[in-house]
Amino acid sequence: MSQDAIVNLVEQQEWLQPVQEAGEKFVKAAFSAAGEAGQPIKNALHGVWLKHPLHAAITDIPVGSWTAAAVLDILEARGNDEYAAGADAAVAIGLVGAAGSALSGLTDWSDTYGKTQRVGALHGLLNLGAAILYGTSYALRKSGNRGAGRALGFAGFATVLASAYLGGALSYEQRVGVNHAPDADEELPQDFVDICAESDLAEGTPKRAEANGKPVLLVRKGQEILALAETCSHAGGPLSEGKIEGDTVVCPWHGSRFCLRDGSVIDGPATIPQPALEVETRDGRVRVRARKG
Ligand code: FES
Repeated sequence: MSQDAIVNLVEQQEWLQPVQEAGEKFVKAAFSAAGEAGQPIKNALHGVWLKHPLHAAITDIPVGSWTAAAVLDILEARGNDEYAAGADAAVAIGLVGAAGSALSGLTDWSDTYGKTQRVGALHGLLNLGAAILYGTSYALRKSGNRGAGRALGFAGFATVLASAYLGGALSYEQRVGVNHAPDADEELPQDFVDICAESDLAEGTPKRAEANGKPVLLVRKGQEILALAETCSHAGGPLSEGKIEGDTVVCPWHGSRFCLRDGSVIDGPATIPQPALEVETRDGRVRVRARKG
């Protein structure tokens, strides 16, 4: 069965709808209950500080640790008792990594919708199941019931592999967490191109124009004209339909906030900066090119 067919099958699972609704409500309520600290915590969990989605990086900890645990469990089961302590430590490290992975994943997931949110819900449930299996496995190992502990560990490993497959589908098929903005070196003009008349720009009002077929956001701020690639790096939202607040633009789709001067991410869910463009005016016309360096 192809990845596309599996994703479509998951999409048809209506029983996941209440899970989605309850999960989204819970995550949003938790950030809102944190008050002013909510947004910085959310930004940290998205990975704004890393300029890369944190979840994609942190999932390597449980997957790697639990893979090591499976290998060490096989060795122990073949009579090599000296591998038992290492297997237990790998299970424990995986559980700690799974907690971080769950927090970052839930934060990213709360900004998804439709098919993506449904696939993400099943991915999360499988991860929860894997964590429960490994938690019980650890307790059994420590109580001396190593055979049962290893068996639950293998069940947890199979569950986490199924979940990782769906995580891959979310990234590679649904394009969650990938950069949707154009590449500044490959897709934006390297030399100045004319894109509109200066008189088309009203103070503080976002305007969409095109440079070599790529949409560009222009904003006049006093004597300056600021330009960013218009397609939001998070999921492709149109920044020219967003809100200008001071020197920032807020994406209309999920509320990412970018600095108009350099494209840096001020608030997620976006983590990847928006390409900024150099602007010059000549004979009443606005010209832009990709910013160098
Ligand atoms: S598309 Fe999601 S914040 Fe812009």
